[in-house]
Amino acid sequence: MPAPDPATGVMLRAAADFDVRTARDPAQAREFLRAHPVPVAIVVLGRPVGTRALEELLREHPRTRWVALCSPAALDDAACRRLVAEHCIDFHTAPVEAARLRQTLGHAHGMARLEAALATQPRAAEPPAAESQFARLTGNSEAIARLRRQLRKVAAADAPVLIWGESGTGKELAARSVHEGSARAAGPFVPINCGAIPANLVQSELFGHERGAFTGAGRARPGLIESAAGGSVFLDEIGDLPLDMQANLLRFLQEKTIYRLGGTRPLPVDVRVIAASHVRLEEAVARGTFREDLYYRLNVLALEMPALRERREDVPALAETFFRDHARERSAHVRGFSHGALEAMRAHHWPGNVRELHNRVRRAAVMAEGRLIQPHDLGLDTAAMPPLPLHGARVQAERRVIEAGLGAGKSITHVARELGVSRMTVYRLMAKHRIAPPARKREP
Ligand SMILES: Nc1ncnc2c1ncn2[C@@H]1O[C@H](COP(=O)(O)OP(=O)(O)O)[C@@H](O)[C@H]1O
Ligand SMILES: [Mg+2]
Repeated sequence: MPAPDPATGVMLRAAADFDVRTARDPAQAREFLRAHPVPVAIVVLGRPVGTRALEELLREHPRTRWVALCSPAALDDAACRRLVAEHCIDFHTAPVEAARLRQTLGHAHGMARLEAALATQPRAAEPPAAESQFARLTGNSEAIARLRRQLRKVAAADAPVLIWGESGTGKELAARSVHEGSARAAGPFVPINCGAIPANLVQSELFGHERGAFTGAGRARPGLIESAAGGSVFLDEIGDLPLDMQANLLRFLQEKTIYRLGGTRPLPVDVRVIAASHVRLEEAVARGTFREDLYYRLNVLALEMPALRERREDVPALAETFFRDHARERSAHVRGFSHGALEAMRAHHWPGNVRELHNRVRRAAVMAEGRLIQPHDLGLDTAAMPPLPLHGARVQAERRVIEAGLGAGKSITHVARELGVSRMTVYRLMAKHRIAPPARKREP
């Protein structure tokens, strides 16, 4: 650090026990640190140095423990405050006290040594991530508080439950909590994705079959519903259940007995049905693809899962939860979310709801290079940031190459191949820039 600064003397006194190097400006510091990474560094804020250059420097060295020395004026500046909050382990305001600074440096150095020693040892086991899946739904929004109250009431009853919600809103989690909060909690919870079972197997999968019911049925086998006896069965995407199976399910709900495929005896089975759908079943009823009587049977206790964009205030808590859940696989130096990342997550529309948030946080926790997760680690930089000059240039370039390709009469497949992206990406960019599709031609 340059000599005329009044803080420098104090700094040098405080750091007397260390091997000290000083740099005149961020560029010089950068050059030095690239070659000689250090465990602890001081950054002086309040000089006429752009925060942007400093921020790049600090971000480039997330493993270094940065201590800020600030002029009081520096802390009036929002960019400076953010720099300190996101990248520094401590800050001192002028007039700096040498003794206190010495303590901070000693502490930081000790922690850096501890961390370096830990890095060479295997990571300690942490509680399995699955645990948190079964815990209560995360969130403090009114929408989630209401849902929790409803879940508690529904769990106490024993009637069928119908859960509606967009994909990724937590329907399965809600179904599990109904089961776990019910008198059947000690019994099995059997999730079945109705859309994933081939139509010709649905009956024997759900209701089981008797010996000789079909070619290859050498032995009798109970179905999934029977296997949930004493507990709950979760019929996910119930809208995908073929109509004849809907009739069988209705009979089961009315009579509490099932017939195995090829069987003639009614078997009494004590199972609670919890169903879910991302399609509005009343619309499926209107279309004639879902039985109206079954709909009314199921719809006794109805729950609606709120979309994440309708409860954005829960985003930070959910993000933190997922970040902690993946503590074991995430990079050791990643400590949490930057201010920018939290802003970008708040602004995002979350078409894939909580599942999308989970996936983005998980990837960022593993891939982030800095101490704090940034918007680009979450894949949320372009959409969420106000247009920067570079951003504007990129947007214009996207628009130009696609318009040029399509304007020249090329097909979407052709343009995608030339740009080295998928056709989906071209469609997405066309929608983003409101570019009309080319006059219909046969795609190769
Ligand atoms: N409120 C919540 N709190 C914590 N995790 C949630 C919440 N809602 C959803 N999740 C998680 O999001 C993911 C998707 O939830 P899931 O129940 O499978 O959604 P759906 O069945 O509606 O598609 C799961 O990993 C689930 O644990
Ligand atoms: Mg699901």
